[in-house]
This record gives sequence, structure tokens and C-alpha cells, in this order.
Amino acid sequence: MLQSMFKVDLFKARENCSSMPKIEFQDDYKSTNQKLEEKGRVCVTGAGGYLASWVVKLLLSKGYKVHGTVRDPDDIKNMHLKKLENASEGLQLFKADLLDTVSLSDAISGCAGVFHVASPVPPSLIVENYEVELMQPAVIGTLNVLDACLKSKIKKIVVVSSLGAIFLNPNWPRDRVMDEECWSDLEFCKATKNWYCMSKTLAESEAWEYARTSKLNIVTICPSIVLGPMLQPTLNTSSLYLLKFLKDGMEAADSGFRHFVDVRDTAEAVLIIYEKAEAEGRYVCSSHGIKTQDLVLKLKSMYPYCNYPKSFREEVPEVKLSSEKLQKLGWSYWPLEETLVDSIKNYEEIGASTLKYKN
Ligand SMILES: NC(=O)c1ccc[n+]([C@@H]2O[C@H](COP(=O)([O-])OP(=O)(O)OC[C@H]3O[C@@H](n4cnc5c(N)ncnc54)[C@H](OP(=O)(O)O)[C@@H]3O)[C@@H](O)[C@H]2O)c1
Repeated sequence: MLQSMFKVDLFKARENCSSMPKIEFQDDYKSTNQKLEEKGRVCVTGAGGYLASWVVKLLLSKGYKVHGTVRDPDDIKNMHLKKLENASEGLQLFKADLLDTVSLSDAISGCAGVFHVASPVPPSLIVENYEVELMQPAVIGTLNVLDACLKSKIKKIVVVSSLGAIFLNPNWPRDRVMDEECWSDLEFCKATKNWYCMSKTLAESEAWEYARTSKLNIVTICPSIVLGPMLQPTLNTSSLYLLKFLKDGMEAADSGFRHFVDVRDTAEAVLIIYEKAEAEGRYVCSSHGIKTQDLVLKLKSMYPYCNYPKSFREEVPEVKLSSEKLQKLGWSYWPLEETLVDSIKNYEEIGASTLKYKN
């Protein structure tokens, strides 16, 4: 059990991080009875997922009316949405699959903006039938959403892409900071069988091509690995990634350089690029780069009793990444320690080690 592994008082652990910049809890996340300014009606695809749930929560807290698409509105895994603040008056769930254009149109119709978040995120690089499981929902699904947006004359669309559509590029000079100019190389994704990165790269590039010919107003965002508390009751892939470091006691873990961003910061970024009229193009959304070995050292210093990897495989060179473009729009982010503490507190509270993986 994860709980029994966490013998450290979490609040003490937070005190130990007192050198960290002090975080002011954003008003939007506080429980509030104040009257909200009426905002427009927007649609969020895959509303019950990890990131989308935080996007829905943020939108509702700002006074938006939200159409959330889920594959099964009665599934217990989507029940948390109905409990979000302002959900009773502000949230309407629509049953929709990315491959079903009619259901998407029903959900998108009547909205001013769309946040296309849904896309499969597999728990491992090995995907048996990647065409059906990944490529179709990611690529055809994105085009279906954009088709529905065009029909409904949607004013602005935020498409959630991924760092996976940026960093898999062996031709990018090692010493050059990766930014929005860099695209993952599809041939390289294919050769390395990285089907997830391939699905995100193709989905995003097809979205841009669609926008170019249709004149739809889209912006895309490319988050790195997203961590932080889960609102949904099932485990998602990136939370599982952190949980594995805490509980699996792997013989040898990869010591690659990884980039992370808090789920709450990512939701904020998604809203910033929607609301700011000057936002255009792609946005890298990442706040911390760290070797996994150093991440584990950091975790160990806060939670010494977890079942950490016993050793690490060869080092992977650092990739430098810039979210400067997003920061110029006013985006800021939490310290990594705060994200880790809040994630682990959340895993403890919900007994995450006993949770079922979403599929
Ligand atoms: N988490 C990260 O580290 C990370 C990093 C970069 C980018 N992203 C991107 O962020 C988005 C959300 O990811 P997440 O981490 O929140 O993962 P998640 O919790 O697994 O959410 C994925 C969502 O997509 C939905 N979905 C998948 N296939 C679908 C289909 N055929 N029709 C309708 N809905 C479908 C899922 O619905 P069901 O619940 O019904 O399966 C789920 O709601 C994705 O676009 C992902 O690529 C995530």
C-alpha cells in the first residue's frame, strides 16, 4: 500500500521546503460564493480526463458555461465533474466519441470556443494496434473536432498537443534551445516506434493544415509531462509515471532528462492562450527540466521511505526547452517541489496505489 510507504508527515515535508518561493493560492481555486462574471459558452473534449478536468474546473470558476464531452456520461469515472464548483448550473455533459462526428457537432454547437483536449495517452510505448488505438482518435478525431468547429462557426479553438510533437527531432542542434520552431520528425517517431509522439505530431500538423485552408482560428499548446493532483478517480498515464518511481522499486530506471509541468499551471496556460487575443501559433508549456535520477533524489529527501528505483541506466543528454513565448503572455508556474508534494498528498488521500489504471 502506498499509504504505508509514506511514513513522513506531509505537512512537515512541506515545511522542509520552506526555501521555496511562497505560493499564493489563486483565488479561482478557492471556494467562493461571489457572483461570477458571465463568460461565454465553450466546449471541452474528453472532459473527464486528467488535464481536461482541471480545465473544466478552471473554466467553471471563471464563469464560463461548459459543454464537456465524455464517452459515457454515466460512467463513475466521470462523476467527479458533477461535483465541481458551479457544475450544477454551468456544466452540461455530452456523450461523444472523437470518431463520431454527429455527437461532436451536438456538443460543439452553440459554443464560442472549443478546447480540444481528448486524445489517447497510452501507459507504455508499446501499443499493439497503434493505427486504431492511437492514430485514428488522435488524428481523425482532431479533424472531426475541427470540422464540427467550422460548421458551428467557432471563434477560437485551443488544441492540446504535446511536447511529444516537438522534441523527437534528431536533426535539431544539441546546443540549441528547443522551442515552438521544432517539430518531431515523423520518420524518426516511426523508426523508434514512438506511436504516441507520432500521433500527437501528426494530429497537430494536420490541425495546422486544416486551419490554414479553413481559416479557423486555432492555437496549440505542447505541455511536457504533466504532474500534480488528480481530480478524476482513475489513474492517468503521467500520474502513473510518478507513482512508479515511488512504489515499484525498479531494479534499473532510465536516468533520462525529463521536463515537467503542473496540471494546474497547464490548465491556466490553456485558458491564457484562449483568452488573450494576441496568442497565436504553438506554445511550449513546461516549467522544470531534471534528470530522473535527480528527481528521485529530491523525492527521497522529502519521502525517504518509498520504494525507489535501485539503480539507473545510462544518462541521456540534457535537452534545453523554452516556454518563454507562453511566459510573455503572463504565464507563471509552481515550484517543482510544490507539485510533487501536492501530487503525493493526493495519491495518499485517494489510495492511488490501489487505483485501477483508467483503461
Ligand atoms: N498528461 C501528460 O503528461 C500530457 C503531456 C502532454 C500532453 N498531454 C495531452 O493532454 C491531453 C489530455 O491528456 P491527459 O494526460 O489528461 O490524459 P487522460 O486523462 O488519459 O485523458 C485523455 C482523454 O481523452 C479521451 N479520449 C481518448 N480517446 C477518445 C475517443 N476515441 N473519443 C473520445 N474521447 C477519447 C479519454 O476519454 P476516456 O476517459 O473515455 O478514455 C480521456 O478523457 C491529451 O491530448 C494528451 O496528449 C498530456
